[in-house]
Amino acid sequence: MSTLWVGTSWKMTKTLAEGRAWASGLRDHLAGKAPAGVQPFVIPSFTATTAVADILGEDSPVLLGVQNAHWEDAGAWTGEVSVPQARDAGAQIVEIGHSERREHFGETVETTRLKAAAALRHGLTPLLCIGETLEVKDAGGSSEFILGQARGALEGLDDQQLSRVVIAYEPIWAIGEKGRPATTEELIEPFAALGEEYAGKVAGLLYGGSVNLDNAADLLGIEHVTGLFVGRTAWQLEGYLELLRIAEAHAAA
Ligand code: 13P
Repeated sequence: MSTLWVGTSWKMTKTLAEGRAWASGLRDHLAGKAPAGVQPFVIPSFTATTAVADILGEDSPVLLGVQNAHWEDAGAWTGEVSVPQARDAGAQIVEIGHSERREHFGETVETTRLKAAAALRHGLTPLLCIGETLEVKDAGGSSEFILGQARGALEGLDDQQLSRVVIAYEPIWAIGEKGRPATTEELIEPFAALGEEYAGKVAGLLYGGSVNLDNAADLLGIEHVTGLFVGRTAWQLEGYLELLRIAEAHAAA
């Protein structure tokens, strides 16, 4: 069975003190070893990146990410952070194309493609987020839409590059306070479509959107799902640790 990626983005939450407490709690709990069959990852906000990197330490089993990065290596791009800067701060993953960035910050298929290429160029893992609106879903177009987003962002990559990419399918209607968790039935078809094109070729196919302690095990049971990308449930360390336990049990089953 493939490794299960289980991680969280803190989005725009946590003070430095809160971030440090979460990260040191995780470090102490894991004591240098990831749960068997599980790849943990955490994506703090930029302000906490180096603090979390220092707390986790160089040989941590937890991968560290940033929530966005620019495609250029350096230059006059006020307010942006480049992939080399993210790497310098300790990041190993670059999250790309979250629906909140597509909706509010002008992220497009073209910019996700440029950012994925930049991450790969500098040896970081692109975590590509894809997902459709409720309108698209209700019109029956989910699979076609998300495949379009994935193909557009990953266009031109060779097999070796593709093998370093992680894809997270996060239906927009399932994310955040206004979202509702997708049911297993709703996810079978989109993951079949993603699996047909990307299973065994990318490093992971994750589900995200209102993952909680009650639905996590079922979500991991969906064919082609190899991990979970989590917001609110993991922002309290205890929630994240419980998700890691659920994933470890699933990996062992
Ligand atoms: P929630 O788990 O809070 O719905 O957020 C999911 C998400 O957007 C992770 O990127």
